[in-house]
Amino acid sequence: MNYYVMTLFPDMIMSGLDTSIIGKAREKGLLSLNAIDIRDFTTDKHRHVDDYPYGGGAGMVMQAQPVYDCYKHVINLINERSHGQQALESSCNENVEKPRVIFMTPTGKTFNQDMAKELAKEDNLVFLCGHYEGIDRRVLDRIVTDEVSIGDFVLTGGELPAMVMIDAISRHIPGVLNNDISAETETFTDNLLEYPQYTRPEVWDGEQVPPVLLTGHHANIEKWRREQSLLLTREKRPDLFEKVELTKKDKKFLADIDKK
Ligand code: ADE
Repeated sequence: MNYYVMTLFPDMIMSGLDTSIIGKAREKGLLSLNAIDIRDFTTDKHRHVDDYPYGGGAGMVMQAQPVYDCYKHVINLINERSHGQQALESSCNENVEKPRVIFMTPTGKTFNQDMAKELAKEDNLVFLCGHYEGIDRRVLDRIVTDEVSIGDFVLTGGELPAMVMIDAISRHIPGVLNNDISAETETFTDNLLEYPQYTRPEVWDGEQVPPVLLTGHHANIEKWRREQSLLLTREKRPDLFEKVELTKKDKKFLADIDKK
C-alpha cells in the first residue's frame, strides 16, 4: 500500500505515523507514506493557498489551482512507481491509474471498520486534507472519489482524520499486525464489541481473573467470551447490538440472564 497525503502540514503526517506498528510496517516495506505539501504548488510569490469566499462569510477557502497541481503531481508519482518513466510521458493515456482520492470533511460519510477493510485492498490511496473554511468545490468535484468524516465533530483540519484512517486501514494489510488473526477477532467483527482481556497476576489488588480463563478448556472459554461480548454490546452499543445475528444459544443465554 502506498499512501499519499496532500496537506499543508506534511511534518505532522510523517511524524504522527512514524512510531509503533505503522512505523515498523513502513520499515518492513509493507506500506509507504508520502506527505506532499500543497503549498509547494502555489504560483503566487507569497505562497498563498487560500482566498476570501465568494459571496462573503467568515474564514478563507483553499484555492483550486494549488490543490489540482498537487494532485497531478501525485498521479505522476503513482504512475512512475507502477509503470516507470514511460507512463509519465504519456500521462493523458488511458492506462494512467486513477487512485481513490479521499477528502477528509465533517460532511462526509462516517468512517467505520468495514470501510477500513475495503480500503486496505487498494494499492494506492490519496488523502486530501483541508484547512480554513474548506476547499473550492470545483477542484473537489474534479478529483475526489470519496468524502469521509471520522465523526460528528469539527476539527481544525483533515490531518488528524487522515492519520486515524491510515492507522485503521493499515491494520488490515497482511503482515502489519504480528498476529494475522487478531484483526479478525476484535471489536466490531460481527457487530460485537470485544470481550474483556486479563493477564498476570491471577489476583491483582484483591481482584481475581474470571476462573474460566484459567481452566484451559477452550470451548468454555470461547462460550464465556461470546457471552461477555453480547452483554457488553447490548449495554454499551444498543445501535450495534440490533445488527448482531444472534444464534439460538445467544438468545437462550440472554433470556436466562433477563429472567434472573
Ligand atoms: N475535518 C474537520 N473535521 C473533520 C472530521 N470530523 N472528519 C474528517 N475531516 C474533518
